[in-house]
Amino acid sequence: MKKGIIIAIDGPAGSGKSTTAKLLAQKLRYKYIDTGAMYRAVTLFWLRKNLPLEEKAVCQILPEISIDLQYNNNGLRIFLNGEDVSEAIRLPEVTNFVSPISTFKCVREFLVEQQRTIGANGAVVMDGRDIGTVVFPKAELKIYLVASVEERVRRRLLELKQKGVAISPEEVRMQIIERDRIDSTRQHSPLQKALDAIEIDTTNLTIEEQVEKIYHLAIEKINNQKS
Ligand code: DC
Repeated sequence: MKKGIIIAIDGPAGSGKSTTAKLLAQKLRYKYIDTGAMYRAVTLFWLRKNLPLEEKAVCQILPEISIDLQYNNNGLRIFLNGEDVSEAIRLPEVTNFVSPISTFKCVREFLVEQQRTIGANGAVVMDGRDIGTVVFPKAELKIYLVASVEERVRRRLLELKQKGVAISPEEVRMQIIERDRIDSTRQHSPLQKALDAIEIDTTNLTIEEQVEKIYHLAIEKINNQKS
């Protein structure tokens, strides 16, 4: 019997997935799994290899990649072949290439298998693009977060400013629209709302409100499971 339920949180870039998923996991004492970070780790490895952006080249390097998610006082840390790359995977270069790299079928198969293994025992909050549709289509609770482009640009600009990255709102806007386009039109497991997912528009919600809403839905599911 599973220790807890699987909560899938999907949605486009900047919809508030990772912050919400992280806080929700803390509140429930569940494990938080950031699947975007896994795609970012593969992208970082590929960038360091200086290879062309071609499916064959990317598929060939996958056996050399080992990704590990660890939890310490700083929260979730991402390890690539033993190296802590939690900061490096957030670099603009990785952000620019992660969507095209994520379109490759071999990359998706490689990571989805690992995500299923990590989440198999339940008691997890997993965020991404295809969690409720492909990774865990039977997840007990599926949330699909959306927010207006303007709000997502505002959030991303704030995040980049805090990191000291200078970028114009127009550039951020174009990056977000382009990532949305690639993520939702790709052939293999595109970003889409699962039929049984609950859609929440976070444009006018605070993080606390988002977390609270999903927390109550989760508690309801957990209690139903027990009875
Ligand atoms: O959530 P994020 O911005 O860190 O995700 C980075 C990219 O990874 C995103 O643009 C598409 C890809 N991704 C994916 O294809 N499937 C997932 N489950 C998670 C992320």
